[in-house]
Amino acid sequence: MKKVEIKTQITVFDSINELPDLAKSLMNKAIEAKQKAYAPYSKFTVGAALLLENGKIIIGNNQENAAYPSGICAERVAIWKASSDFPDIKILKLAISASSSSQIVKEPVAPCGACRQTLSEYEIKQKDTIEVYFMGQEGKIIKTDSVLDLLPIAFDKSFL
Ligand code: THU
Repeated sequence: MKKVEIKTQITVFDSINELPDLAKSLMNKAIEAKQKAYAPYSKFTVGAALLLENGKIIIGNNQENAAYPSGICAERVAIWKASSDFPDIKILKLAISASSSSQIVKEPVAPCGACRQTLSEYEIKQKDTIEVYFMGQEGKIIKTDSVLDLLPIAFDKSFL
């Protein structure tokens, strides 16, 4: 028996102004996308923006449903849009921002487990990492160099 330590690395930016230009404009697209979320039940709005290798930006936001589990997260809306329209174009970066009607979200909002799993599928498929930047409504931004940094020991096609 042995214990194995798994390390993951994050980069923390103090504010959106500290981001490199490309990441900053992508985060602004995520913030814009958040404003169009359909979240009447949770009143927690999330926006996501993906930068593709062809320069296109694909946005998504959370879409809720009166039958709650039928709703879907912003990240999955964005990545499925990207994969539907541009199945063979690499995804370079993902920016995420979230807000709540009940409090100012000051801490970075990380993608949920199901979104991490979905995002990892496309990162593995494209054989290249996707940088992930996430924030709340204001304040710090966390960046990971890859989706798998958020999902160590992932389930993937090699098990099938
Ligand atoms: N949500 C996202 O869009 N992304 C996440 O990673 C976490 C949660 C949405 C789903 C739901 O509409 C609302 O936030 C509250 O959970």
